[in-house]
Parts: sequence; structure tokens; C-alpha cells
Amino acid sequence: RKKLLIDTDPGVDDAMAILAAFNSPEVEVIGLTTVFGNVYTQTATRNAFKLLELAEMTQVPVAEGAHVTLNGTPKTWVADFVHGTDGFGNINIDIAEGTKWSGCAAEFIVQTVRENPGEVSILALGPLTNIAIAMQLDSSVARNAAEIVVLGGAFFVNGNVNPAAEANMYGDPEAADFVLGQGGNIKIVGLDVTHSCQFTGTELRGLQDRGRFGTFLSEITAFYLKYHKDSYDMDSVYVHDPSALAAVLQPALFTWRFGQVRVLTESVATGMTVMDVGLKRWNNPHGWTDRANVQVAVAVNAAKTTTMLLERMAA
Ligand code: BDR
Ligand code: CA
Repeated sequence: RKKLLIDTDPGVDDAMAILAAFNSPEVEVIGLTTVFGNVYTQTATRNAFKLLELAEMTQVPVAEGAHVTLNGTPKTWVADFVHGTDGFGNINIDIAEGTKWSGCAAEFIVQTVRENPGEVSILALGPLTNIAIAMQLDSSVARNAAEIVVLGGAFFVNGNVNPAAEANMYGDPEAADFVLGQGGNIKIVGLDVTHSCQFTGTELRGLQDRGRFGTFLSEITAFYLKYHKDSYDMDSVYVHDPSALAAVLQPALFTWRFGQVRVLTESVATGMTVMDVGLKRWNNPHGWTDRANVQVAVAVNAAKTTTMLLERMAA
């Protein structure tokens, strides 16, 4: 079983991914670290405790992460129009209490990777601030993690915050550009494939009778469905974070392409991901030839991925 550390900003689709992970025999969840993004970091931590309570997995540590971006910019807006102000579709859930791990998220990541060299899969479902800080605290994190699977980016399609940028990249572009250049086994699952994976309203409402996880997910996804209806005129939702989990569970469901990726950190297109698709040699002083390679998901078996995930989301 892979040891799985999930960095997250829960978030409706984060909740789907985390609960599905608890039903996945391929992985053992060994910690949650929280970050701003869909909600402020404090709310992300509270929501992480809520998910652990629901899963009866309160022994899993939660380490709270960054409240500001890598270069110190405070978070000034959250995606409440996508996930609700509480991150869980405004369903008035009881607030779960829990004890935070003694250090911060980045320290937890460093310590966990040090104690389990080559064995920890990191699943990054929010802006990459905590991962970047961990790599700055200890430069061996990138090579000593078994893999780092990132939900983020829009490579050959438009973004979802604006035409250029996907939300997790937009949330902390400096952190993202730093992390994706550190080497190691990094995979990115972006909108190119997550927009191919959808759950229909009928499927999500149908979770209602499928155990504790199913009931909770059917309730919190009503708001998320409405956002997709209002914004995209869809009767389904895009499957972002759970698809990144699927890439940990069954990487062969995706087609991967090696290449160098940069994230724009300024301009109107800040947060945009640019991939070198390897067609040119950049035999000139301006190329990105020294940049480490990552793997980008460019295609997915959407039917198998969504079927597997829906099954795992019910308990
Ligand atoms: C990503 O942004 C967040 O809103 C989602 O939870 C997901 O991680 C999709 O762009
Ligand atoms: Ca997320």
C-alpha cells in the first residue's frame, strides 16, 4: 500500500477525493495538511477534521499549513461561489474539533518524508505553498518522496479562474513554479483531463443512500452542481481532485507526457502553466534546457476513472 499524505483546501471535490482515498485499498492515508484556496486555511483545517470524523479516522494527523503565499501575499478571496463559504456547500454541518499536529504543514511533510524515504506519495489538491516551503526547508523532499501528484494547471485548454489560469496554480504561482522545477517524480493532473471526467447530477444525488460518505457527499455537492449549472450550463460537475487521486491509485488510467513546465508569476496570465512538449531542442541561451522534467496527464480513460471513483465515494 502506498503511504499517502494529502495536502488540501477542502473544498467539495477535496472532500470527494479524501473520502474516496479512505475506501481505496491501494493507499493508506498517513496525514492531511491544510492550505488556503477554496477556503481560508483555518476553515480548511476544520473541514479536514470533519472528514476524519466522518471516516472514523481521527487518529490521522492534521497539520495546518500556510495562511499566505510563498512570497507573503495574504489570501484575499476564496472560491465561495464554487464551494460555499464553509467549503462544504453551505449545509450547516456541525463543526468538528481536533488537535492539530504540533508543527506546521511544511514541517510535517519534511518529517514524514524523512522517516519514510522513497515511500510517501504526496497528493497536492490545493495551491502548492506548503509543498514549496517543505522543499525549501529540506531540498531532499522532492527526490525522497515516492511521487508528488499535483492537481493543477491547464496546459492545452483554458483555465478556470480566467482563460489563462487554473485555480490551484493561480492561488500561489511562485510556489507552483518553484515546486515543478525541483525534480523528483512529479505528475500533474490538470484541466486537460479533469474536464473530461464528470459526475452527473443523477449520480451525485444517487449517493444519498450509499452509506455515510455517500449521504454527506450528496448533500455537499448540491451547491457544486448549481455552480456548474450557472457557470457552464452543465447538469454534471467536473471531477478535479478525485481525478488526481485516481492518478495515485491507477496511473495507467492516464496518458502521461514528459516535459518541462513553467508557471507564469506575473502579467495578465499569472498562474498560467506552459509545457515544453519536446518538439524543439531549444539549442539557444533562452531555452529552459536546465529545467527538471515532470509528467503531465494529457489524456484519461474517463469512463473507468469516474466509475472507479464513484464506487470509492460510497461507503
Ligand atoms: C481546483 O481548484 C479548487 O477549487 C478545487 O478544489 C481543485 O483543487 C480545480 O481548479
Ligand atoms: Ca482542492
